[in-house]
Amino acid sequence: MKITFYGHACLLVEHDGKRVLIDPFLSGNPASVIQPGEIKADAIVLTHGHSDHFGDTVEIAKRNDCPVIAVFELAGICQAKGTKSHGMSIGGAFDFEGFRVKLTPAWHSSSVRDGDHIIYAGGAAGVVLTMGGKNLYHAGDTALFSDLKLICEFHDIDAAALPIGDNFTMGPEEAVLAAEWVRPKVVIPIHYNTFPVIRQDPFAFQTAVEAKGIACRPLAPGQSLDV
Ligand code: NI
Ligand code: MN
Repeated sequence: MKITFYGHACLLVEHDGKRVLIDPFLSGNPASVIQPGEIKADAIVLTHGHSDHFGDTVEIAKRNDCPVIAVFELAGICQAKGTKSHGMSIGGAFDFEGFRVKLTPAWHSSSVRDGDHIIYAGGAAGVVLTMGGKNLYHAGDTALFSDLKLICEFHDIDAAALPIGDNFTMGPEEAVLAAEWVRPKVVIPIHYNTFPVIRQDPFAFQTAVEAKGIACRPLAPGQSLDV
């Protein structure tokens, strides 16, 4: 499984020619190094509807003629905007061609802004994405909560993308404990330094995670990791 970080919470996950894109916030992302028009994807998975995750989903899904996989309400919003969609609920998993998606709980909110209106988008989720026998856990924007311990009851997590930015998500101290509970082979910090309010030092976080005996690889936007 090859994981490429595109800044903020966006990951492209590839195996054997399949390309699954998570939370494609690219054109409005000051940390992005790629434009949505350059992305090839077989599916888009969304953790929730906030604009720094929903991002360029509709444009990319339409151009690639690929489905948006998300919580039922959010998948419905995408469908109403003209994309293919596959609705799921938290706790459910589904085998797609070449990959499997399980939506996990996340303590956060979810909505889509449409002009002056806020559209209800269901609950916020995390994702366990399985490809080529490897499991990536993308935590979404969650707070720390003790049920994160359940994830490794059912999946050996090869890589965990954990938010460290604080303010909107867990902060770095909580993310270290999340790493101990999820027990991944490697942690990839996400959701930091995109905006001044979520400024963090990923290398201080790396030191703190590695002190617990867990590998940690901060990735620069555009950088990839094979797991
Ligand atoms: Ni959010
Ligand atoms: Mn966010």
